[in-house]
Amino acid sequence: MKLKNANVLITGGASGIGKIMGRMALEKGAKALIIWDVNQEAIEATAAEFASRGRVYIYKVDITNSLLVASTYQQIKQECGGVDILINCAGIVRGNKTFDQQTEQDIRLTLEVNTIAPMIITKEILPDMLRRNSGHICNIASAGGMLSNPKMSVYAASKWAAIGWSDSVRIELQEMKSNVHVTTIAPYFINTGMFNGVKSPLLPIQKPEPTAKKIICAIERNQTFRGIPFGFHFIRFWQAILPIRVFDFVFGTVFGIYHAMDNFTGRTK
Ligand SMILES: NC(=O)c1ccc[n+]([C@@H]2O[C@H](COP(=O)([O-])OP(=O)(O)OC[C@H]3O[C@@H](n4cnc5c(N)ncnc54)[C@H](O)[C@@H]3O)[C@@H](O)[C@H]2O)c1
Repeated sequence: MKLKNANVLITGGASGIGKIMGRMALEKGAKALIIWDVNQEAIEATAAEFASRGRVYIYKVDITNSLLVASTYQQIKQECGGVDILINCAGIVRGNKTFDQQTEQDIRLTLEVNTIAPMIITKEILPDMLRRNSGHICNIASAGGMLSNPKMSVYAASKWAAIGWSDSVRIELQEMKSNVHVTTIAPYFINTGMFNGVKSPLLPIQKPEPTAKKIICAIERNQTFRGIPFGFHFIRFWQAILPIRVFDFVFGTVFGIYHAMDNFTGRTK
């Protein structure tokens, strides 16, 4: 779906690739950019930065609060007239602990933000898209949703679930012959700060700007799935044909992905 003249809602739109995609949406002539984020300071700074570029609506929303999600969507309908493109981008990762060290609180929060919230938000907005027979939902998952990387088991679980859910909804809409489309995105590590400290000796850590551009392009082309970099489209192929221990050796040891999280610090603030 084209971004020109569209109302674009981006969760987590006050930082990282969400913020860059918001700027790109305005550059492409979006009618309105709607940002939902939990970080008040960052939303205000983003709104001030983008003010001269177009109509920007900011809402402080903790997306794990489904009542707030529902009431803010009603507010958006009043103030902006609805949502044409939803980008579920907000996400979190909690530390680099092995699973035995994880707390129940972090497990629940990670799944709430990365998996359940995109479902609840989509459930709120999709019926209106279906009524109009127009719309696009883009879910930002992760390559961690295809690779069982150690020291991020809960994050990986949240993104595996996000990919399965997102692609299933895509097929449902396709079966309905609906003009509402779903794009699932699975990026490798991106240099936004969220995964500060990770090391990737062979595969390059992705740059935020080109990554955001690839996602916007995937939305505009109604692409079903986009691995970033493109080679990640073949992960499942390699998983299918290689014995698991050979796959572990190639991706874990040769590419060094299984030790990527060893020096993870994440955002310090
Ligand atoms: N950075 C990476 O290496 C990487 C790799 C693959 C996938 N991803 C995914 O891409 C998406 C964006 O990542 P990023 O690197 O731009 O992250 P980021 O940390 O820069 O931005 C995430 C935003 O989400 C917001 N957020 C967090 N919890 C929220 C909540 N409960 N309610 C509302 N907003 C909330 C944060 O305030 C922040 O503004 C995430 O879903 C992430 O899992 C990131």
